[in-house]
Amino acid sequence: MGQTEGKTNIMDYDTVCLSDAGDAVVIIDQTKLPGQTRTIALRTAKEIWEAIYLLKVRGAPAIGVAAAYGIYVLSRQIQTEDYEEFACEFQRQKDYLDSARPTAVNLSWALNRMYEVVKAGAGTPVAQIRNELRREAERIQEEDILVCKRIGEYGLSLVKPGDGILTHCNAGKLAASRYGTATAPIYLGEERGYHFRVFADETRPLLQGARLTAFELMSAGVDVTLICDNMSASVMQKGWVDAVFVGCDRVAANGDTANKIGTSVVAAVAKLYGVPVYVCAPTATIDMETATGAKIRIEERPQEEVTEMWYENRMAPPGIKVYNPAFDVTDHALIAGIVTEYGVARAPYTESLREIVAEKNQRAKGCPDACGGPAGRISSEKGE
Ligand code: MRU
Repeated sequence: MGQTEGKTNIMDYDTVCLSDAGDAVVIIDQTKLPGQTRTIALRTAKEIWEAIYLLKVRGAPAIGVAAAYGIYVLSRQIQTEDYEEFACEFQRQKDYLDSARPTAVNLSWALNRMYEVVKAGAGTPVAQIRNELRREAERIQEEDILVCKRIGEYGLSLVKPGDGILTHCNAGKLAASRYGTATAPIYLGEERGYHFRVFADETRPLLQGARLTAFELMSAGVDVTLICDNMSASVMQKGWVDAVFVGCDRVAANGDTANKIGTSVVAAVAKLYGVPVYVCAPTATIDMETATGAKIRIEERPQEEVTEMWYENRMAPPGIKVYNPAFDVTDHALIAGIVTEYGVARAPYTESLREIVAEKNQRAKGCPDACGGPAGRISSEKGE
């Protein structure tokens, strides 16, 4: 079936996929949502880079998958069968794609995984390396689907039927594969009759909550209410929110978490009202090389996103100074648990995240696609 054929609901689309001919990355252009559901095929390095930079494809896991398929597509265009030449050009293209956005670790993580395939292929025909690259990109996407589902199961163990859940930005199907991360417990709960009441923050300035989360949850039949970013205290004060689930772009070794700008405000407010904040984090997003959130590089974006984008007319005075960081860091002290595909990590995160990564590495040795059950400081249920 083609990318759009017979599809009427956003939930039926792949956020990212490879074209049937294997010569393009096909994405839903998220800048057009929810007004138009349009897929675009990306073939050149510039097209792929721009799609990531302009947030046509966005959300940490989806960026990783797009980059993996993207570098595979570009590897097919490298006109040589000489290994050294191929590896050198591959690295140049990989570094270029990696420069599109700095905060989400998944971008460099996925590209480095692909580069490992090239390095491991030294001495084998380039044609064979290209085949291996395609397989690795497919694996990255398949693993993402599995990982999101497991995060959903662990996340679901933290809430009960009828709960109010608040989420910020879009960590949904449009940001990952199938279940999303922060939305995975919501979708799984919906399948099992939990009937959550979800509050989606609009998420200034790029409105991922209003344009994407509200859209995909509504399309899936979830009870979702859109609120402006400055309303989260109000709904929590009223007792309408039992848990906050958010995604992340990078988790430092001590549990400090970079996610969409405004997440730390939600977490601080939630702490005041005693609402637990859970960060849904595939282990690919955990960066043990970065000791604390202070070391995470935060992307700054064009000021027009704040002053005029999405408005019919510019709504700020010409010449006004604008600060537009795309992410902020939520202090680990505000986080009740980090939900991974291996269980829920609890404070102290320096220890629990180390255990999780060790568990992952252990399993990777025996069975590369396996996700494990909880161990040690990692719990599977609320309050453990
Ligand atoms: O700038 P964006 O839209 O790419 O930011 C996305 C987020 O902050 C998400 O919460 C995060 O990437 C997790 S997506 C599963």
